[in-house]
Amino acid sequence: MTQIADIRFTAVDLDAIAETEGLVAIFVNAEGKLDAGARKVNTLTRKAVARLADSDRFAKAKDGDVQRLNYPNGLAADAVLVVKSPKRPDQATARRAGAQLAKAQGDNPLLIVAGTLPRSEEVAMGLALRGYNFDDHKSEAGRDAAAATFMVSKPAETQAAAADGFAIAEGVFFTRDLTNEPANVLTTVEFANRLDELSALGLEVEILEEDKLEELGMASLLCVGQGSDSPSKVVVMQWNGGGKEAPFALVGKGVVFDTGGISLKPAAGMEDMTMDMGGAGVVAGVMKSLALRKAKANVVGLVGLVENMPSGNATRPGDVVTAMSGTTIEVINTDAEGRLVLADVLWYAQDRFKPRGMINLATLTGAIIIGLGHENAGVFSNSDDLSGAFLKAAETEGEGAWRMPMGPGYDKLIKSNIADIKNTGGRPAGSITAAQFLGRFVKDDMPWCHLDIAGVASVKAETAFAPRGATGWGVMALNRLISDRYEG
Ligand code: BES
Ligand code: MN
Ligand code: ZN
Repeated sequence: MTQIADIRFTAVDLDAIAETEGLVAIFVNAEGKLDAGARKVNTLTRKAVARLADSDRFAKAKDGDVQRLNYPNGLAADAVLVVKSPKRPDQATARRAGAQLAKAQGDNPLLIVAGTLPRSEEVAMGLALRGYNFDDHKSEAGRDAAAATFMVSKPAETQAAAADGFAIAEGVFFTRDLTNEPANVLTTVEFANRLDELSALGLEVEILEEDKLEELGMASLLCVGQGSDSPSKVVVMQWNGGGKEAPFALVGKGVVFDTGGISLKPAAGMEDMTMDMGGAGVVAGVMKSLALRKAKANVVGLVGLVENMPSGNATRPGDVVTAMSGTTIEVINTDAEGRLVLADVLWYAQDRFKPRGMINLATLTGAIIIGLGHENAGVFSNSDDLSGAFLKAAETEGEGAWRMPMGPGYDKLIKSNIADIKNTGGRPAGSITAAQFLGRFVKDDMPWCHLDIAGVASVKAETAFAPRGATGWGVMALNRLISDRYEG
């Protein structure tokens, strides 16, 4: 498990800077105006900071960028990291500054002389988020992110303000670890075990095994995992931090590996399908964050954990299954498996919890990557209110999300000759027909969003807050949505 960095807050002591080893960070605004900490470093380095602040390089830098002064005279530190920042950075700039510091930090201890800088706690969150490495499977023992200390005018208050951000970062790390984990390690059994451990944080965790799922009538979900030696499971995680109100439901696709089944995928790139449980990973990360920050809301997270494998016992193209809702489904393509899993978990979530609203997350379609690339997740919804609130939360957290259309016209593409619906609608509007399919398992008055995260859950290039690989996209936006809409 990847731990977030050890980040501490201490009172300002300018006289301690000269002797500090490792790296020292200071903040300088675009006008080159130095705060007390930067002034102190400027004096100690015989005006190296002022020279940098006067330079073209500094003028061209963006707010939140970090410039490095190596081996400065007058300091024990190996480098000064100069953060370009307005006097009052906004949330995005403060977090970006933190992320840039984490990148510049490497393995070195870091002292951040923030003084009275507003939103220092957001700098700390950005630092925590970017200090991630998935090196559990490197034979050389993985290192934890190096420690950092913030020198601030009100350490206790800044630390308290940072606590929620760290709780969210821990949720993000949980999501990333699950999503990065290879499928021989993160089997359905191991996934359920890791979720079970969340009960130590006060979450109520239940694991529904195959016999129970059969009894509930989840033939749609079960048909996906039937070719695998790993048993299919549904895990229910409840966080009851609110009052008597109905919970908000989060539902995740947890395909621990997607070979495509009998409709086998091509070999090239198939290894990426270890991330096909990314939706379930986000649900797990949000639930962990809610528990860590003791959110004052009732939220239930449900994930369908299956492995999509070909075998003599696997579902065939052309098979017909009856979902828990009673809807019959013709399985045209066994590689359109995520929607088969979600159909039953969505129905179960509504049937059992009568939630006040529901959001599902899934690495559902390659088509959403064609449409939106890796910058935005697709947002499909029957509710302007809920999707509008989600889009706003995602924007606030800097997580790309874009609303996509739905409509009855698309339903004809998933009409089946022999069953109620079929599980693929062909190439046109592939992400929308997938959403229409899910919509068939959402009750009439249920405010619902489907987030297609195939393009954003795991990426090949680093992002502002994560190295290449799993991003944890959505954990921050969903936390924000819950805190803004359902807490207090
Ligand atoms: N897990 C895939 C979608 C996916 C593709 C996720 C690329 C992440 C990256 C999904 O189960 C799938 O195979 N979808 C098919 C649907 C098709 C058969 C209708 C697809 O997108 O090709
Ligand atoms: Mn598939
Ligand atoms: Zn899949």
